[in-house]
Amino acid sequence: MSSPGTSPTAATDTRTGASWSRSSFPLCCRVLSRVRCWRWAGEPYEAFYNEFCVGRELWTIDWDATRRPSGACNHVVDNVVNLRDHFSEAYLDLVLMKGVFGWGLNEKGAIERAFAAVHAVLTPGGIIVLGWNDTPGLVPVPLERVQALRQFTPYYFPPLRGTSFWCSTAAHAYSFFVK
Ligand SMILES: C[S@@+](CC[C@H](N)C(=O)[O-])C[C@H]1O[C@@H](n2cnc3c(N)ncnc32)[C@H](O)[C@@H]1O
Repeated sequence: MSSPGTSPTAATDTRTGASWSRSSFPLCCRVLSRVRCWRWAGEPYEAFYNEFCVGRELWTIDWDATRRPSGACNHVVDNVVNLRDHFSEAYLDLVLMKGVFGWGLNEKGAIERAFAAVHAVLTPGGIIVLGWNDTPGLVPVPLERVQALRQFTPYYFPPLRGTSFWCSTAAHAYSFFVK
C-alpha cells in the first residue's frame, strides 16, 4: 500500500517472482470453504471484498465512523482492541487486517491487546492475513517482538508459496498466521 487512497494494481513477490493481480487476490473466499470473514473497513476501492465474500458472513470494523460507507453490511465502529465486545470466542474463520498495524494501531500495549483479541475470536485453524508496510517508520514493533502473535503459527499460503508475501510496490507485505 503506497498511501491511503491509492491502489497498486499488481504485486510481485520479490523472492519467488510470483505476480498477483490485486483485484484477483483471493483473500476472503477461495482459501476457506466456510467463512465468517472480518476485515477493517477502509478505502472505497476495497468494496470488491464484498464481492469476494458473497454467500459468507462478512464483517468490517473501523474506529473512524466516517469509514462506514466503505464497510460491509455488518459493520462495527470501534477500536480493534475491543473486538471481544462484538464477537464471541472462536466465531470468525478469517481476519484480514490490512493497513492498520502502523496506521493507527501503533502503541505496543494496544498491538498486544489487538492480536490477543484477534486470536480469541478466530476459530481453531482460523487464519489472520496481516497487511503491513515493511518500511522504516511504519513498523511500530517488529512482528517477531509481538508476544500475542506467538500464539499463532506462521501459515504457508500455497498460491503465494510462503508464509509472507512482499509486494514490489510500496514495500507492502502480507504475513499469514493460523490459530
Ligand atoms: C491506512 S487506512 C487503511 C485502510 C484499508 N484497510 C487499506 O488497507 O487500504 C487505516 C484504517 O485503519 C483504521 N484504524 C486504525 N487503527 C485502528 C484501530 N485501533 N481500531 C480500528 N480501526 C483502526 C483507521 O481509522 C483507517 O480507516
